Amino acid sequence: MNRVPVPVADHHVGILGGGQLGRMLAEAGRPLGVAFRFWAPGAAESIAGFGEHIRADWDDDAAFERFLAGLDVVTWEFENVPVSLAHRIGEFVPVRPGPAALDVAQDRLSEKTRFESLGIATNAWLPIDGQGALESAIAEIGLPAVLKKRRFGYDGKGQEVLRSEADVAGAFERIGAVPCILEAFVPFDREVSLVAVRTIDGRVHPYPLVENTHVEGILSRTDAPAAAVSDGVRARAEEAVRALADSLDYVGTLAVEFFQVGDELLANEMAPRVHNSGHWSQDGAVTSQFENHVRAVCGLPLGPTSVAWPTVMLNLIGRRGDPEALLACDGARLHDYGKSERPGRKVGHVNVLGSTRDAALERAEVVRGVIGEPELAGGS
Ligand SMILES: Nc1ncnc2c1ncn2[C@@H]1O[C@H](COP(=O)(O)OP(=O)(O)OP(=O)(O)O)[C@@H](O)[C@H]1O
Ligand SMILES: [Mg+2]
Repeated sequence: MNRVPVPVADHHVGILGGGQLGRMLAEAGRPLGVAFRFWAPGAAESIAGFGEHIRADWDDDAAFERFLAGLDVVTWEFENVPVSLAHRIGEFVPVRPGPAALDVAQDRLSEKTRFESLGIATNAWLPIDGQGALESAIAEIGLPAVLKKRRFGYDGKGQEVLRSEADVAGAFERIGAVPCILEAFVPFDREVSLVAVRTIDGRVHPYPLVENTHVEGILSRTDAPAAAVSDGVRARAEEAVRALADSLDYVGTLAVEFFQVGDELLANEMAPRVHNSGHWSQDGAVTSQFENHVRAVCGLPLGPTSVAWPTVMLNLIGRRGDPEALLACDGARLHDYGKSERPGRKVGHVNVLGSTRDAALERAEVVRGVIGEPELAGGS
């Protein structure tokens, strides 16, 4: 009688990864009659209480069997899952999106190559495999430029802005002497992103374009929808995401980040999963990116992606803040990830809603005052 009860559910979804994105997928899916099981090697405090957690390394065969038992579909919330594991799971249970999306997104070189092959504009870039290659690339691309590790970068980690010849000296060693790309530094007017959801039968449902503000490479704020988006910019963003999703036969939610320069969009990177710049949709859209991801991978009809409330999403970085003070702010909806505080770590976010954009902006200023400055890791 001591066994953990298994929930009665119409769909059983397995999630690779155990971070806040997994928590919010389960939060959105459970009211629809979907049950979740997670596989994550670490402690995974965010998902405690949201489904069974199989805590094991990715190459653990016993865990593989326990994880898959009774599942209808497997997805991920963390993009550095081994591609080979996704392929192996796919022999038993559908994996959505498919492993090809992981494969492309895990390597900045294949990401940029994919953008280019689809005619999606990017900033100038070159592959780097040593200090010599870096120096010739600088001669071609110029300064300032950004040196980025091809793999395992997130929240601005694994990259360095090179502004002078002195910065270039020894840069390949400093970054860890691993395969990189060098990108032209883009003096952008703003950063925007497009989150969209693709169904099994290939229909793409875009959310509106949103504007993102980063602090030291970490997303700090999303304004949804972005102000003053021309028809051309909207169409190009939607076309880029549609082409990318179609090329991967993608199922579920994906995001593409762009630099906007005038009326031009340059694709920066893709995320093959629900994305921080889509968190506003939990309270500000008719159907959230999380719910629509669950719906898509389960083969259920999608809900509308339209805006219900203009929203400003503010990340809680390094500090959870004072929940009572945040909840006392007009229009503020708090999403805590259940994570311990650490400088530079995303531990929650607040969606600030207004009946108009101006009302949301005004309320967001109040909430920003309550949150205070993000606690950053200081470049580590
Ligand atoms: N070439 C560039 N020109 C100007 N700014 C850049 C460039 N590359 C990156 N940045 C800045 O650094 C931020 C993080 O870069 P990027 O999105 O490549 O890294 P990441 O670590 O993979 O981030 P994420 O957490 O979104 O996965 C960008 O959103 C942008 O603000
Ligand atoms: Mg990014």
